[in-house]
Amino acid sequence: MNENIFGKVDQYISDLLAPEDQILKDTIKSIDEEGLPQISVTPNHGKMLQVMAILSNAKRILELGTLAGYSTIWLARALPENGQLITLEVDQHHSDVARKNIENAGLSDKVDFRVGKAMEILPQLIENNEGPFDLIFIDADKPPYTEYFEYALKLSRPGTVIICDNVIREGKVLDENTSDERVKGVQRFNKMLQQNKNVTATIIQTVGVKEHDGIAIAVVNRS
Ligand SMILES: C[S@@+](CC[C@H](N)C(=O)[O-])C[C@H]1O[C@@H](n2cnc3c(N)ncnc32)[C@H](O)[C@@H]1O
Repeated sequence: MNENIFGKVDQYISDLLAPEDQILKDTIKSIDEEGLPQISVTPNHGKMLQVMAILSNAKRILELGTLAGYSTIWLARALPENGQLITLEVDQHHSDVARKNIENAGLSDKVDFRVGKAMEILPQLIENNEGPFDLIFIDADKPPYTEYFEYALKLSRPGTVIICDNVIREGKVLDENTSDERVKGVQRFNKMLQQNKNVTATIIQTVGVKEHDGIAIAVVNRS
């Protein structure tokens, strides 16, 4: 099999169904210009997030890991007029870059930026009764994914969709002797997902223009 087939097909799907407009292209450009890492979701994954937001009729979205606001734009574009997205980011510079990109996208009235460690902001969201959210996208640092998910559950209602990126890590999750803290973090997370009775969940493997990985999708049970 042509080893580039996954990348080529990913590009084919993006061209068909997830073409980037100038705002998304400028957002990706800002990442290089501002010295941020190119670790945003791909166009196809951005579109998938948008489809999930529409599917779940999301009016309130929570995102962990803003970076330059690329996934934020895909998600916020699915919100209705009075919809709101809160996005958490530990790095002030990342959040500042994202703020400009969101402004450029005309979405400033829908996006609320919070800067700080997700682990510190999440309990504040609970304390301030800022939930429940209809969709939660977890895409920050990997070691505390299990704890992020537990906070996400506290900020959910029955039917809330929780999506967690990068849970397969090029298949390294199969290595039980790994010393990589990110891999260990998602291994612990995936095991928790298996045992969690509050959600119905699965993991979809992803291949394409980025390395082989996986996305966990969970829905909070209705009873
Ligand atoms: C993979 S990037 C997010 C990409 C973004 N969701 C997108 O697709 O456009 C992860 C982001 O999480 C941020 N991050 C890392 N540790 C964090 C923490 N403890 N709390 C909040 N954000 C964190 C990083 O600074 C980085 O900007």
